[in-house]
Amino acid sequence: MPHRRSGSRELVRPALIRALMAAALAVPAVPGIVLAGTDPLAATGRWEGNTSGGARTPPMGWNSWNAFRTEVDEAKVMGAAGVLVDSGLAKLGYNHINIDDGWWLKRRQSDARLQIRTNIFPSAATGGAAGSSFKPFTDKLHAMGLKAGLYTDIGRNACSQAYDLHSPNLPQGTTAEREVGLEGHVEQDINLYFKEWGFDYIKIDACGLADFVPGSKLVKDQQYRGLAPLIDRSAINRTDINAVRGRYEAVSAALKAARPDNDYVLSICAWGMANVRTWGKDVGNLWRTSSDITPSWTSMLHNFDSAAKRALYAGPGHWNDPDILHIGHEDFDANHLVEARSHFSLWAMINAPLLVSYDLRNGPASLLGVLGNAELIRVNQDRSGHQGVVTYDSSDAQIIVKTLGDGRRKAVALFNRGATPAPVILLARHLKLSDGAPIVLKDLWSKKTLTFTDEQAFTLAPHETLVFEATGKRQLENGVYLSEIPGSINVVVDGTRQAELDPTIHRMIDPWSGTRSSGSRPQYAGWGGAQADATPFGQTLQIAGQAFDSGLGVLSNSRIQVRNDAGHAVLMASVGVDDSSANVSDAIKFYVYGDGKLLSESPAVTLGGKANQVTANIKGRKLIELVVRDARSGTTRPVVATWGDVRLMPGSSASH
Ligand code: GLA
Repeated sequence: MPHRRSGSRELVRPALIRALMAAALAVPAVPGIVLAGTDPLAATGRWEGNTSGGARTPPMGWNSWNAFRTEVDEAKVMGAAGVLVDSGLAKLGYNHINIDDGWWLKRRQSDARLQIRTNIFPSAATGGAAGSSFKPFTDKLHAMGLKAGLYTDIGRNACSQAYDLHSPNLPQGTTAEREVGLEGHVEQDINLYFKEWGFDYIKIDACGLADFVPGSKLVKDQQYRGLAPLIDRSAINRTDINAVRGRYEAVSAALKAARPDNDYVLSICAWGMANVRTWGKDVGNLWRTSSDITPSWTSMLHNFDSAAKRALYAGPGHWNDPDILHIGHEDFDANHLVEARSHFSLWAMINAPLLVSYDLRNGPASLLGVLGNAELIRVNQDRSGHQGVVTYDSSDAQIIVKTLGDGRRKAVALFNRGATPAPVILLARHLKLSDGAPIVLKDLWSKKTLTFTDEQAFTLAPHETLVFEATGKRQLENGVYLSEIPGSINVVVDGTRQAELDPTIHRMIDPWSGTRSSGSRPQYAGWGGAQADATPFGQTLQIAGQAFDSGLGVLSNSRIQVRNDAGHAVLMASVGVDDSSANVSDAIKFYVYGDGKLLSESPAVTLGGKANQVTANIKGRKLIELVVRDARSGTTRPVVATWGDVRLMPGSSASH
């Protein structure tokens, strides 16, 4: 399988162009923030999370890219579809069949209509005035009970036109004919794909905004129209976040118009760039949080890490996307079932899309067994949509806990990242379950059950992930910590003032340039955003020496919405400036709103001040908003603010 050639990214970023870009591009003032009137911190009393599109649970299915790159064809795609149906995987939820890059021939110049490469998709050779059509293809998939997905780019040109120049399936013709991406054709193309051709899902890549630098060797050699990049892959401050977001918003609007029944999926493929990890949830149904996965363990770690700490940014209808699965290849093939199971378990736990991407026609049964673990799929597809939260974190081993259903059950994954056996002790409190009461663990791989109290020791084999369903006595028997229900939370404003790069993601040797590059650097913005059970910078929550296992870590000048779906009556929290705050001087205040009405507020607090108790009567309130304000907004670094033990409780037993 060909990979990107070493150094190919370099050719698109010559120094001269960088200088021009720096001068030409505006630096966005407040990345990722949705402006609501004049005061983005004002409670609106209205759920502002994106409700468009049809991805109530993480999408599942098959994508052609990791299997075939641009050498995709109809027989291969229909072969995968057939295996999904015949093996029973489709019934378990694998129902999206997505064609990736390589399907197109050209943009016809008489009417700008996209033409399909019919030599690889013969059923599209419908002839007539239209030239070609995918309708027979999508009809076939729909008749099999499946859904159909297609690929395009948000710019003028697609990724293969920069990175797969050897491909036999690149768009052909003049410069204009080879402009197959959405730029300038959003409505026309979306209508064609969704109304006329009957697709249900669109993955929209972003190379067109990143890699076609005017004057570059690529643009000159291939005779493309250059575009001053809106995304600089190596510089968030030279990336025009708002312009990138605006382009995807235009697609979202076109999709809503084309599919007023909301039956579509919008997959944003901006690889964690342009601060998409913050705003993707407001625009699309899933958004790539990192660069492309490769079939190596460390690449899998990298992609997992890019989504694993972003639980508060995902929920029903919108999902972090660490990329399609690489099960079936190299480190995750049938000779590496431990790794294949780990990859699958981790994606399941963090509500990642489960898109298989190997040649299913030739796959061994053991891999179908991994993909067909119905209990793991149920964990991933749980309708409450709470992404697993990393409860114990280290570079060697992690513990990830995911609330299922109404919270009576949890899934917990014990993950050995390393190449040597790892001792992992699972504590009742990792699960937010009580000490002294029995906890039942059901192993979702071996199906064995075990019971323990307080703590249980395990030794994980190298690269092994154990996943259990856990039940026991909840710490909050009738209440819930907000960090247990990230899927009910929408971070409207996260308080970041400048997009900062996340330094915690595993840095592999670059699969494309190896050690010829300057080394692997943090590259994805979103550092400092809100976190469950940790500060925005990954520290233990702590106010004046008092540590909290549970809580929300935010920045000052943030607003977070919480759906009170279970009809709780009281919100309680211990709030204050976190001991880890680098801003050591500003005073901040905490506010709780219910359906837009102020219910409770803290006094002004500063670093070192003891935690203040906040109690708010939320009886009958459907939407809670948690706001932290810093009077000296904008002039300093944000204050790290901790909502310690923040929880929703029934009226009668509101105490901890
Ligand atoms: C980019 C995307 C991949 C794939 C290729 C197609 O690299 O991130 O997922 O779609 O383009 O060229």
